[in-house]
Amino acid sequence: MTDFRAPRPYLPLPARLIVFLSGRGSNFEALASASLRNEIPGRIVAVVSDRASAKGLVRACELGIRTATVEKARGESREEHETRILDVLGDTDGALICLAGYMRLLSPSFVERFPLRILNIHPALLPSFPGTHAQRQALAYGCKVTGATVHFVDSGVDSGPIVMQEAVPILPEDDEDALSERILGVEHRLYAQAVRAVLAGGWRKAGRSVFLS
Ligand code: GRF
Repeated sequence: MTDFRAPRPYLPLPARLIVFLSGRGSNFEALASASLRNEIPGRIVAVVSDRASAKGLVRACELGIRTATVEKARGESREEHETRILDVLGDTDGALICLAGYMRLLSPSFVERFPLRILNIHPALLPSFPGTHAQRQALAYGCKVTGATVHFVDSGVDSGPIVMQEAVPILPEDDEDALSERILGVEHRLYAQAVRAVLAGGWRKAGRSVFLS
């Protein structure tokens, strides 16, 4: 899909949000809180984790959100693993998938099944520092500014079209923890803003560029 104009609203409202995570889940919690405060016109209907130990699952249970743990079995292909996830989820019609610290690359066939319906949040100003340890990479490079990016997901590593970005300064005294913490505060706000803008519709994608209205 190269050029695309999103209808208003983009998806049937209230939108069904499905969150994929692998760990702590603070971005999931931020989305859940934004939804409860009616700051995004959607409800999280399921949280999927590829790790049974993910703390985000515990929080989802406390919030009464359906959870599913689908760990990747030894020898299982990525597509087979994703098929099991889809089987567990059941109806995904009209859903927006939000990756929130999900530590797996999605296969091309999975991405094609949800065109411009999968978002991810990354703790850097893409295309700088994709992949893991983005904050450590920015510090090691000697950057003065880094940030957070919400983007549509394609089958590459943090390479899909950018929806929103926000810069975060790197301070002389920053270590990886301090910088990560400062970026995380921005992530929590930015992810909800981006989900709200995408769901509202009226935006346009031309090539890689997303123009929010
Ligand atoms: C966040 O920094 C996010 O940008 C990255 O993974 C981290 C997940 O944190 N993709 P949390 O699990 O949402 O707390």
